[in-house]
Amino acid sequence: MPRLAYVDGRVVPLAAAAVNVEDRGLQFADSVYEVVAVLNGRLLDWNGHATRLARNLGELGIPVPMTEAALGLTARRLIALNRAREALLYIQVTRGTARRDHAFAAGMRPTLAMTVRPFDFAQRVAQQAKGVAVVTVPDDRWGRCDIKTTGLLANVLAKQAARGAGAFEAWLVGRDDTVAEGASTNAWIVAGGVLVTPPLTSRVLPGVMRAAVIEAAEGLQVRVEERPFAVAEARAADEALITSTTVPVLPVVRIDGAPVGDGTPGPVAARLAGAVWDRIAVQTGYCP
Ligand code: PDD
Repeated sequence: MPRLAYVDGRVVPLAAAAVNVEDRGLQFADSVYEVVAVLNGRLLDWNGHATRLARNLGELGIPVPMTEAALGLTARRLIALNRAREALLYIQVTRGTARRDHAFAAGMRPTLAMTVRPFDFAQRVAQQAKGVAVVTVPDDRWGRCDIKTTGLLANVLAKQAARGAGAFEAWLVGRDDTVAEGASTNAWIVAGGVLVTPPLTSRVLPGVMRAAVIEAAEGLQVRVEERPFAVAEARAADEALITSTTVPVLPVVRIDGAPVGDGTPGPVAARLAGAVWDRIAVQTGYCP
């Protein structure tokens, strides 16, 4: 697969792709992003990602770099040029380049960059059968976690703490002891047959996969409750799971070293995973 990137209207070799050192994305993380799954050469849930990107740009007052239709065309062209089959499309829009100053001038021209990298979705099948461990860490992020910005330092450190503890993900826990979400995934438990996930507040990213899993649960007649849950409730739950574009339903079998349920993936996670793979197959033709 050739490695080509898109930066501000040009397709260039990834190794040569660059932005200005005074780009506000670099200097202030004044920037939003999306990660979209490419399966069988096709984009999964493109509308969900494009809509969220537009909303986030609006929240931060960053002008849209191009229409949604043009963005979709540009992304698909980059995927085709990279001859990507199973991959992750990364899209980043920064407020643009200017002499360093915290405040910004009106009418700045945003920077748009996209990359595509190969990604093995089939590895998730084995992980779904085994499950993964999570650890809990204090949620040190800013107050607008509903906006997908590249200001991810707290997430980066949380994920690194998880890796240091031999876990796959870190769950970010608020002062009230409830779980907001993972460092890069949404968080779920199953208690008494009900699928529970934190509601969409400023502490939670509205995951595109989260929406797909709620829809899948409804199709499977699994009741869904969007409400906070505490770490203690998660530890006592029958099942736990995480979801994201890169992790379409992964059972959590250990929280802070203690087993969830009997310490193996549960039936609700398995049914949801099956439904999500079906949805992927319908949209893209991909079967793991
Ligand atoms: N992360 N919560 C956080 C903090 C995330 O960073 C992500 C996605 C999600 C799940 O969102 P979605 O289902 O739309 O992927 C939830 C991406 C994959 C990343 O940063 O790599």
